[in-house]
Amino acid sequence: MALIVPLRREYDVLGLRGQFPALQRRINGRALTYLDNGASAQQPAAVIEAVSDYSRNHHSNVHRGVHTLSQEATALFEGARGKVRGFINAASDREIVFVRGTTEAINLVAGTLGRSRLQPGDEVVISWLEHHANIVPWQMLCEQAGAQLRVVPMDRRGVVDFDAYRALLGPRTKIVALAHVSNALGTVLPIREFIAEARARGIATVVDGAQAVPHQRIDVQALGCDFYAFSGHKMYGPTGIGVLYAREAVLATLPPWQGGGDMILTVSFTRTTWNSLPWRFEAGTPNIAGAVGLGAAIDWLGQVGMEAIAAHEADLLAFATERLATIPGLTIIGTAPDKASLVSFTVDGVHPHDLGTVLDAEGVAVRTGHHCAMPVMEFFDVPATTRASFALYNTRAEIEILHAALTRAIGMLR
Ligand code: ALA
Repeated sequence: MALIVPLRREYDVLGLRGQFPALQRRINGRALTYLDNGASAQQPAAVIEAVSDYSRNHHSNVHRGVHTLSQEATALFEGARGKVRGFINAASDREIVFVRGTTEAINLVAGTLGRSRLQPGDEVVISWLEHHANIVPWQMLCEQAGAQLRVVPMDRRGVVDFDAYRALLGPRTKIVALAHVSNALGTVLPIREFIAEARARGIATVVDGAQAVPHQRIDVQALGCDFYAFSGHKMYGPTGIGVLYAREAVLATLPPWQGGGDMILTVSFTRTTWNSLPWRFEAGTPNIAGAVGLGAAIDWLGQVGMEAIAAHEADLLAFATERLATIPGLTIIGTAPDKASLVSFTVDGVHPHDLGTVLDAEGVAVRTGHHCAMPVMEFFDVPATTRASFALYNTRAEIEILHAALTRAIGMLR
């Protein structure tokens, strides 16, 4: 059983909750207990207001106008890029590419690095616990290139086998793409060690950081990866905005991805030249409001403190693990020693979708299904799980509400 980490006294969870309008809602006559943060976290007023202020006062297109609004929009958009750089300790703003989200970021890498580097017979290595967003783009790429997708096994706890990983890395391995944190199991991979093994062999490294970024401080230079992808909406920002961090030395060698405005320097019918980094990879009008919201989320998270958030969530995870384990017939799926802020589980004789529906009737929001990780479900031989995923604003009291609602729901559904 994981140790329960004492809460830092200064962590004012109720004060933080008060900053989230959606958390004040009542659902089916009950106070909302929002435990679907792994899918999308709620947004604090600071983020909502930053987006609203942009839309009301500064909205225009970026990089294109000499007029005041365009310059303001450009300053806000590029200012957000600088905030992202600082948040993940990238070396330069040139390494921060704005995308729609993690899925688009990974597709960008597959469509540029992958398409330009992969030869027939080459290999891409992923792990068993990946989200579909870190499986399907590589599958599609391998099919196009005549390459092989190799999958690192995991054990019954959901721990990815490091020795098997090392054994899989060979002269034909060109890309390693791994989750930092599993969205279905909560497993935290010792990603720095995984990256180091690949880098020592000259293999490009891609990290799906969607489930890691909201829960711990990320330092891409310390990790040493070539690419790190994440989404705004899981870290208290808006949907439709995300980030691909790419090490400049690698990004500079990649062919362009999508063609269009803003990614070019000059265009003629005979020859087009490319814009500098990172705009070469941002064709078309970007999600300016989204970037502004993401920048506001980063400022806000900076005030709360990532270390304080990590400590609070470690306490929630340990408490939830302990409490849920007391429910007869409930099995936790994903018991790695190092886990992030979620608990996935099955209940004997009860389908997760039925459970999720009954919990919703009590105002408790959880995710049920395969969590876009069908190979994980297949591995554990379950069609689906119920997943409670925690955020910086959740409380032990909410875990007690989940426990009580689950006990009633199971009694009703069995
Ligand atoms: N990938 C998101 C999740 O895990 C949607 O719920």
